[in-house]
Amino acid sequence: MADQGIEGILSTVGNTPLVALARLFPDASSRVFAKLERFNPGGSIKDRSALSMLLGRVRSGELIPGVSVVVESSSGNLAIGIAQLCRYFDLRFVCVVDAKTTKQNLAILRAYGAEIELITQPDPETGEYLPMRLRRVAELVEAIPHAYNPNQYSNPLNPRAHRGTMAEIVGALDRPVDYLFCSTSTFGTLRGCAEYIRAEGLKTRVVAVDAVGSMIFGQPPAVRLIPGHGASVVPPLADPALAQDVVHVSDLECVVACRRLVDREAILAGGSSGATVAAVGRRLEQIPDGSTCVLIFPDGGDRYLNTIYSDPWVTTHFGEVSHLWKDRRC
Ligand SMILES: Cc1ncc(COP(=O)(O)O)c(C=O)c1O
Repeated sequence: MADQGIEGILSTVGNTPLVALARLFPDASSRVFAKLERFNPGGSIKDRSALSMLLGRVRSGELIPGVSVVVESSSGNLAIGIAQLCRYFDLRFVCVVDAKTTKQNLAILRAYGAEIELITQPDPETGEYLPMRLRRVAELVEAIPHAYNPNQYSNPLNPRAHRGTMAEIVGALDRPVDYLFCSTSTFGTLRGCAEYIRAEGLKTRVVAVDAVGSMIFGQPPAVRLIPGHGASVVPPLADPALAQDVVHVSDLECVVACRRLVDREAILAGGSSGATVAAVGRRLEQIPDGSTCVLIFPDGGDRYLNTIYSDPWVTTHFGEVSHLWKDRRC
C-alpha cells in the first residue's frame, strides 16, 4: 500500500507477491499469474480494506485509542483485518458474526481481542443471516457511545484500497495485463481495480468471478457452502458495467480447482481463489494467444481445512470426486 507513515505490522499490508501458474495450465498459449493476498499480515486481501477504511479516521482523531469502538458485520477476512488494526491502535472492536462463522476464525478474532456478537437466527423472510447481522450492527452503533461502523458494503474507501492492488499487479509485470480475474462479494476489489484500469487508460478486461447462488449479478439465490465470495444481497458498491465478463462458479468447481492448485503448484489457496482458477480454465480457449491473465487469490487455504481440504467434508457434500483433481489429464 506504500504509505510512508504506516508503522509496525500494518506497514506490511500490501506489496504481495505475483507468481506464474505455469504448471496448472502447461498447454495454455496465455500466461497466467496469481496475486497471493494471503501474504498480508492478517492473511487476506481484506487487510487492505480495513486499513483504507480506518487509518484516516485514526490519524484525524475521529477514532480515539481507548475510547472509540469499531462495530462491523463480517464473519471472516475483513473481521480479522479490522481486529488486527484495532489491536494495533488500541480500539475496541465489536464484531457481528453468525452461526456460519468458523471456530477457527472466532479463535483468531478472540486472540486479537475482538468482542464477538453472535447472531443465531437467520432472517425469517430470506433465510439469510446477513440482514439480521446488519440490523444488529445498527442497534449496537446506536447503543454504544463513540461507536463507528465502517460498513464495507458501501464505504468508498473499501474499493479505494484496491486501486493499489491493481497498481502493484501492473508494476510487477513487464507486459500489459490483458485479463484480470477477480472474485466478488462487496465488489470492493473489483471496483477498485477497475477504477485504476480506467484512470490509467489500460486495456485490461475485467472478468468478475461470482458464486453460483450469489445475487450480485441478478441470479436467483441458492445455498452456497463456501464462504468469502458471493453475496446474498446486491452490495451498493456493485456496478456490473465495471466487468466485461462474468463467470459463475459452483462450490464443487471451487473445491476441484483448489485441490488441483495445491496438487500442481503447491499453492494452498482459499475457495474464491479456486473460483478464479476454475473461471480462467473455462475461458482460456476463447482468450487470444499470448495474452497475460492475472488472478487475484484473496486468501489462503488454511482457513478452509475443515471444508475444501477435508476429504470427509468433500465426500459428504459432493460424493467421491477425488478423481477430478487426481487425474493429471484433467
Ligand atoms: C476469501 C474472499 N474472497 C473474495 C472476497 C471478495 O472481495 P470483495 O469484498 O472485495 O468483493 C472476499 C471478501 O471478503 C473474501 O473474503
